[in-house]
Amino acid sequence: MQTQNFTTTAVIMHWLIAVSIFFLFISSWWMLALPFPSIDFKYRVFPFQLHKNLGITIVFMLIILLYVRLRYRPTPVFSAGERPLLLRLAFLDHVILYILIFTCCISGYMSSSYSGWSTTLWWVLELPHWGYEDEELNMFYSDIHLWTCWALLAFVSVHVGGALYHAFRNDGFVRRMLRL
Ligand code: HEM
Ligand code: HEM
Repeated sequence: MQTQNFTTTAVIMHWLIAVSIFFLFISSWWMLALPFPSIDFKYRVFPFQLHKNLGITIVFMLIILLYVRLRYRPTPVFSAGERPLLLRLAFLDHVILYILIFTCCISGYMSSSYSGWSTTLWWVLELPHWGYEDEELNMFYSDIHLWTCWALLAFVSVHVGGALYHAFRNDGFVRRMLRL
């Protein structure tokens, strides 16, 4: 269905995902610097659970965003002098963002499944702990997690750069993502 703007759900999901991803980036290196859990030090447990909870929730929010975007397509904005190549690059950047966010979340979940630590989603729902403790598989998925995170950071930077470009041109692109 063709709509004038992004739907309210799409805008809310976009910003919840963006804020969550910024938070995960900022908090994760701090989280990894905390001492390993022991009888005396349990600081790591809470930030790790929070990281995993938010990461898993992002998958659901991304599916909702993808669903509403495919169902309700906003009319494309064409500003004066806009080059079609830039629009195609922006579209490609969005597709890559979707793929990277999914890969990042799945690899994080896989890595944690082989770490021997179970996940209780938002401290309520015990997720099936189908993985067994395996350091090699944990490291394998952990490496994929790390590298997809770096790639995600790079493509988010391109995305925010593009958004700033449109904001300075004041051509209505960014306003569409700010209006509920
Ligand atoms: C878009 C979502 C996510 C982002 C941006 C993100 C980001 C990060 C970053 C930057 C690190 C530090 C990497 C390093 O230095 O090794 C990290 C580590 C970690 N993340 Fe995520 N993460 C996300 C989703 C998830 C999910 C869904 C899970 C699990 C359910 C998860 C579990 C972990 C674990 C266990 C670590 C510790 C290091 C490791 O074993 O890989 N993450 N995350
Ligand atoms: C971690 C941060 C972010 C992520 C992961 C992200 C992700 C995305 C994705 C996947 C889309 C495509 C939605 C679709 O059409 O299907 C999108 C669109 C958009 N984003 Fe972001 N975003 C982030 C941050 C930002 C920021 C900081 C801004 C603005 C300052 C912004 C502005 C926009 C705008 C204006 C669009 C719509 C572009 C259009 O009209 O097609 N985003 N974003």
